[in-house]
Amino acid sequence: MKKLTVHASRSYDIVIGAGLLGDAGAYCKEALGGARRLCIVSDDTVASLYLNQTKESLEAVGFSVEHFVFPHGETSKNTEVLVSLWEFLAERRFTRSDALVALGGGVVGDLCGFCAATFLRGIRFVQIPTTLLAAVDSSVGGKTAVDLRVGKNLVGAFYQPSIVIFDIKTLDTLPREIFSDGCAEVVKYAMIGDRALFDDLSGDIRESIEDIIARCVLHKAEIVEGDEFDRGRRQLLNLGHTFGHAIEACSNLQISHGSAVAMGLVMATRAAVRLGICPSDDLSALIALLERLSLPTECPYSAKELICAALADKKRMGDTVTFVLPFGIGDSRLYPVSVSEMTDLFEKGLTK
Ligand SMILES: NC(=O)c1ccc[n+]([C@@H]2O[C@H](COP(=O)([O-])OP(=O)(O)OC[C@H]3O[C@@H](n4cnc5c(N)ncnc54)[C@H](O)[C@@H]3O)[C@@H](O)[C@H]2O)c1
Ligand SMILES: [Zn+2]
Repeated sequence: MKKLTVHASRSYDIVIGAGLLGDAGAYCKEALGGARRLCIVSDDTVASLYLNQTKESLEAVGFSVEHFVFPHGETSKNTEVLVSLWEFLAERRFTRSDALVALGGGVVGDLCGFCAATFLRGIRFVQIPTTLLAAVDSSVGGKTAVDLRVGKNLVGAFYQPSIVIFDIKTLDTLPREIFSDGCAEVVKYAMIGDRALFDDLSGDIRESIEDIIARCVLHKAEIVEGDEFDRGRRQLLNLGHTFGHAIEACSNLQISHGSAVAMGLVMATRAAVRLGICPSDDLSALIALLERLSLPTECPYSAKELICAALADKKRMGDTVTFVLPFGIGDSRLYPVSVSEMTDLFEKGLTK
């Protein structure tokens, strides 16, 4: 079992280990002093696997527990589901001393977290991630959001959980491609600032998953502590994502986030090699690693198509766009360019 503490506007622990779902009650009791009632928020897939066990653990320490379950998938991370959750809590007279428990992947965590940030102007919440992506990324750092029809994550808040509890056993039921999606974020952390992690990923990831997740979380926590509200250094976490978001958008979200990020990591690294700031051996090593993790490495779209999608993503557009480029494995830096220089970077990122 590993325990880390994040020192953000609210300090909280992250516990990672096998079988922790059974201890969720004890952890929540400690982290949520004074709470009597909890509402577990989950999606139908995760609920069918882990709701009962979680509920039992919470009830065993004296919590009274309700649950709110919605259909799985990104399409549920919307304002309609959010409003029904607000109504659900209000009808059941949830108070500020009660709390929510997000049991699921990033979709559940983002929606439940935003509900917690806004219901009664803020009630506490716990993250119990069940995907690799949620464990290493979305459950840590306090970004919460729902999607609008116009785009993803357009309404949200910075709101930190009271504790994050990750039972690595929940990964056993995760479909292989969803596990691979999470691996793309793990590779991202290695490319941002941890060459030793990159080297360790060439072994059997599943065997040392607890250690790998803890190292990723430590990186995220360290970056978030320095820039909780995303004004500077936190943008490093966007490595591969400016390209990746454009790829996701071009595919009409048919290409998964992890696959798009994997292609985006390759594009960022190839562009850096062509700019003469990154050794080309590092690009080859990145491609080899992603392939071993069953992730795609080549983007199927042209620079023109990608630019169109990137420009439509108004949230990210000012006069300059801050890219993140690897100067080598484990050494990524912010790289601001003007909108007109963007095309060049996209072109440099593609093979032809
Ligand atoms: N807040 C942040 O900082 C942040 C960071 C990265 C991503 N995100 C968000 O996270 C979301 C993606 O998260 P995700 O990849 O976890 O997607 P997800 O929550 O949709 O989970 C993927 C699928 O796996 C299923 N699932 C989850 N856990 C399972 C388990 N243990 N066993 C079997 N099936 C399981 C879910 O039902 C779902 O169908 C996106 O909405 C993205 O915007 C947020
Ligand atoms: Zn991501």
